[in-house]
Amino acid sequence: RGELALTAGSADFAIFPGAATALWHYAGLHDGKAVANPLLRLQHGQKLQVNLHNALDEATTAHWHGLSVDEANDGSGLHPVQPGAQRRYAFNVANRAGLYWYHAHPHGNTGKQIQRGLAGLLLVEDAQENALRARLGLNWGERDLPLLIADKQIDSNNSIVYKDGADDWIGNRILVNWTADAYLDAVPGLYRLRILNGCNARLWRLAFVHRGGLLPFQLIGTDGGLLERPWRLQDIFLGPAQRIDVIVDFSTVAVGDRVLLSSLDYMAMENEDDAGPLQPHLMADHPGAVPMGAAQDLMEFRLVADRSQRRSFGAAAIPARFQPLPPVAAEDCALRQFKLALDAEGRWLINQWNMYFNGHEPVFRVRRGSREIWEIHNALASMPHPIHVHGFQFRLLSRRISPPDIRARAVTDTGLSPHDLGLLDTVVIWPGEIVRIAIDFSQPFEGVQRYMLHCHNLEHEDRGMMITFAVD
Ligand code: C2O
Ligand code: CU
Ligand code: CU
Repeated sequence: RGELALTAGSADFAIFPGAATALWHYAGLHDGKAVANPLLRLQHGQKLQVNLHNALDEATTAHWHGLSVDEANDGSGLHPVQPGAQRRYAFNVANRAGLYWYHAHPHGNTGKQIQRGLAGLLLVEDAQENALRARLGLNWGERDLPLLIADKQIDSNNSIVYKDGADDWIGNRILVNWTADAYLDAVPGLYRLRILNGCNARLWRLAFVHRGGLLPFQLIGTDGGLLERPWRLQDIFLGPAQRIDVIVDFSTVAVGDRVLLSSLDYMAMENEDDAGPLQPHLMADHPGAVPMGAAQDLMEFRLVADRSQRRSFGAAAIPARFQPLPPVAAEDCALRQFKLALDAEGRWLINQWNMYFNGHEPVFRVRRGSREIWEIHNALASMPHPIHVHGFQFRLLSRRISPPDIRARAVTDTGLSPHDLGLLDTVVIWPGEIVRIAIDFSQPFEGVQRYMLHCHNLEHEDRGMMITFAVD
């Protein structure tokens, strides 16, 4: 409630045994205590008011990823906050209930600043969400948990390493809510987990592993909140910046057992050069990191006896249907095409455009209130790109020419997976794919508002795989 003061700065934290780790973070005050990267919890319609003070010695911002805001409040690189300066963000939260996030977004330095720690979660709640929570009986912070999961490259001195001008920054350690070797003492029952892939570049195939087998879970929501219905899944791809809302049932797991939240191995499809997924030149920067697509464990649930007497309902309490999503526009829409490709110089392009080389001015204009279909083609000699649009959530219409692993997960004849049926702000486009998304450009703002369309592989973004567009 009221205005929150956030200070972007650096401080030492005991994350690993031994030497402290300098973590860049947004420091907020809660009950007189400093909190690093506080989770912001807002009701739909409530006003977010944040005063950002930059105590770093380089420009930064706070970008409200996934939220419907005007340009002045978007926190993109168009409005950097210089060292020592302040900026006030104030807007009404117009999004559906769901897990969103905020992070630094200065042009050219987003990868470094997020890797160093400038990222936090933002939970939006509304009436539907509150009813669901009451029905499931899962207390927030106990059995309903946000998990910001990211890999970091840590050196032998426990410092976070980042190389300016880096490519695909993957790490050798996993932090879950800024905690290394994370585990949770869990009771046999339902847990609701809101998971953010906060990695710079790493994609995961998430699954719950118990005694070598997979524990199924229910996917109930994505970036922009609840799906229309839950889907029972065994695994799910999650790209950088994407969020999922899942319910997992530990009631069949014996006390004393452990369940791992893991990323299973998958075909990484790093087809952009001859080096393949092991890419020796990349791995040299990341000693100890598993290559993209290789299996890794993210956190552990250790089953303990339930002595809490708290009321939680069984899996039968998960509703069979949630509210319908806004209909997908398909008629009378302008069609815009985007091609993702690598040029001969090794630069990632969106329609031949690279922001680093071609500049920040808007490349195209969209009429406010119109609906458009964007058709995004990824070259075959490419890699998976998590493509993100600022300011607007979108729906997927179709995936075509998908790789076999993606095709195998389709549940519609348009090639969409359950994850694709949600409201999204970030979508992974696999090599060779053609993906159509529908965007409704209605918004309550006036005048020219500029936004970004970019790859959320942060090294691609920083190296120019981003274009500005204007809504007018
Ligand atoms: Cu998560 Cu342009 O950002
Ligand atoms: Cu964003
Ligand atoms: Cu990319």
